[in-house]
Amino acid sequence: MTAVRVGLLGFGVVGGGTVSVLSRNAQEIARRAGRQIEIVKILTRHPEKSRLVPWPAAQLTTDPSEILNDTSIQLVVEMLGGIEPARSYILRAIEAGKHVVTANKALIATHGNEIFAAARARGVVVAFEAAVAGGIPIIKAIREGLAGNRIRGVAGIVNGTSNYILTQMRECGAEFGDALAQAQRLGYAEADPHFDVDGIDAAHKLTILAAIAFGIPLQFSETYIEGIRDLESADIAYARELGYRVKHLGIARRGASGIELRVHPALIPEKRIIASVDGVMNAVLVDGDAVGSTLFYGPGAGAEPTASAVVADIIDVVRTLTTDPQWRVPHLAFQPDALSDGPILDMGEVKTACYLRCEAEDRPGVLADMTRILADLGISIEAILQKVPEAGAHTVPVILLIHKVREAQVNEAIRRIEALPAIAGKIRRLRVETFD
Ligand code: NDP
Ligand code: HSE
Repeated sequence: MTAVRVGLLGFGVVGGGTVSVLSRNAQEIARRAGRQIEIVKILTRHPEKSRLVPWPAAQLTTDPSEILNDTSIQLVVEMLGGIEPARSYILRAIEAGKHVVTANKALIATHGNEIFAAARARGVVVAFEAAVAGGIPIIKAIREGLAGNRIRGVAGIVNGTSNYILTQMRECGAEFGDALAQAQRLGYAEADPHFDVDGIDAAHKLTILAAIAFGIPLQFSETYIEGIRDLESADIAYARELGYRVKHLGIARRGASGIELRVHPALIPEKRIIASVDGVMNAVLVDGDAVGSTLFYGPGAGAEPTASAVVADIIDVVRTLTTDPQWRVPHLAFQPDALSDGPILDMGEVKTACYLRCEAEDRPGVLADMTRILADLGISIEAILQKVPEAGAHTVPVILLIHKVREAQVNEAIRRIEALPAIAGKIRRLRVETFD
């Protein structure tokens, strides 16, 4: 059989890794795919730039039409990043009847519904395994391996940069800014670290996971998002004293009144396996009614781990080239006419346990005022920690762990406690996830 001709859009970290893996494992890959896979053109902005993986100059181009208008190219792999021009190029490739593989979580989370509709209309595949948790084959696991389950929830550490920063803060007592600078030096953070540390990147990934887990459309704008920028190493140390680790989590959970879709830092009991996922590693916990709780762990970023997912998608597409479109695995796991439109829960209705930290004046009655507010709102306290004041300080840190309660009640408690004259500044709130 003739080789399948592939065009790559992007020759950066992931593009370079993909070229490397496809070249190094060409024979093994051909044995799996049933065909040779040939890279015929690569789009870059700077073809003259020296690359970790050298490639013949004649096959590099700055003109996307050399790939998108080439009728001999059956498969386009998008590894540019960002929304435009990636979105337009993918839509052009689909219109031209080409299959698409992409690593672009931002694009899939925000424009996936449009892209999949276009792909269905044209009968082509758009594969996106690398968009979530880098090298972990989590899309395939949920979409195919767990297809017999009613998925009850998905929760994960899906941003390696945030996880690296939190690990540095815990292990070395580093403050956020220093740990971020280190993550940037090591090349973990996105070009704009705002996406990593403010939870946007994790929310993109969670949006995709929720869609394939529950059979709902991609709804990035409905996701509650909080990042790790405001965390202080003191919170991580207090959490540790209480037997918890702080992790940045994406959580999608199906409840009686709707679907929770939220990304925020959370305290996790130290004994949970997911609490030990450190550094840039990712982990995704999937809870299915038949299988129970499953945990997928691995590298969530980097050239070759991400290329591992991209190349798996390329092989999948090559294998399905001769399959009629209606027999292929649906893009979002469920048949397109069977997607549900169940409500996404307002964050105020979500119930979680919480860690609250405030600075309180060290005088009689302050703690009593705080606990009275909680009692009035029907909020039960699980633990209280009051630290001795530092020399010369007028306030002491007070840490409260409260039992599971509606977020709206906690918001009201925070408002009332912050209004007490003896409380200085804002209350730090971190949610607790026990995974019981
Ligand atoms: P890089 O910035 O390293 O690479 C981007 C590549 O695209 C570069 O080769 C760049 O060209 C090229 N490019 C960008 N814009 C244009 C344009 N307008 N025209 C032509 N070429 C262009 O990004 P990554 O490889 O890190 O990321 C690629 C995608 O993979 C993103 O969507 C990212 O979110 C996703 N991803 C990345 C992971 C990672 O670990 N890095 C992990 C999982 C997903 P030039 O080289 O000439 O500048
Ligand atoms: N910047 C991302 C992360 C890369 O830190 O997880 C992988 O998507």
